[in-house]
Amino acid sequence: MQFSTLLATAVALTGASAAAIQSSIRFNIESDNQEVNNKGLSSIHEGAAINYFFAGEGSESFDFDYKTGVISKNVEIADNQTYEAFFTIQEGGSGFHTLQTSPSYDNTKWAVENGYLTGNGSNTFFAVKGTNDPYNYSKESFQIGVMAPHSPNIYDAVVPIKIKATVDSVA
Ligand SMILES: *[C@@H]1O[C@H](CO)[C@@H](O)[C@H](O)[C@H]1NC(C)=O
Ligand SMILES: *[C@@H]1O[C@H](CO)[C@@H](O)[C@H](O)[C@H]1NC(C)=O
Ligand SMILES: *[C@@H]1O[C@H](CO)[C@@H](O)[C@H](O)[C@H]1NC(C)=O
Repeated sequence: MQFSTLLATAVALTGASAAAIQSSIRFNIESDNQEVNNKGLSSIHEGAAINYFFAGEGSESFDFDYKTGVISKNVEIADNQTYEAFFTIQEGGSGFHTLQTSPSYDNTKWAVENGYLTGNGSNTFFAVKGTNDPYNYSKESFQIGVMAPHSPNIYDAVVPIKIKATVDSVA
């Protein structure tokens, strides 16, 4: 289904005057590198309320408000208490900026253009091994993020990817 059709459906179902228009969104990698091509994006806990994204078998689902460009999900802590985990980019010291969920929003404007995820207008992301993440998952798995231009050549593998977005339906 075309994204524009989904938009129209979403508006019809939620009522055009609703303040926020939300869909469910999930992601798969597109790359010439067959090690990561078609893998899903799912996040793994790497610190206090911080999850990093890796190329995996599953595609984690988020809420997408395409009016504000915010991607997030409610995470249950305990006893019906939830917090909003935002899909963000955290700047790293050595050029690799990691895609993560975080309790604070970094103002990245997310969008889906021609079926691909864009962050602040860019659809270029990277799958990287050897990022020195806290639990060392990136020694075995590709971690997802953005690589700054002229980054030092200190990583085990750096693979350019695009991220295909599947916008499912109204949440
Ligand atoms: C959580 O919410 C449900 C539904 O409102 C309620 O039945 C349940 O008792 C609540 N649990 C706690 C631990 O407050
Ligand atoms: C997008 O821009 C905001 C500042 O407006 C910045 O905080 C954020 O890190 C940027 N995100 C990306 C993916 O470049
Ligand atoms: C990750 O690897 C580094 C060495 O490369 C090691 O010092 C550190 O303890 C490892 N961390 C974990 C959580 O295993």
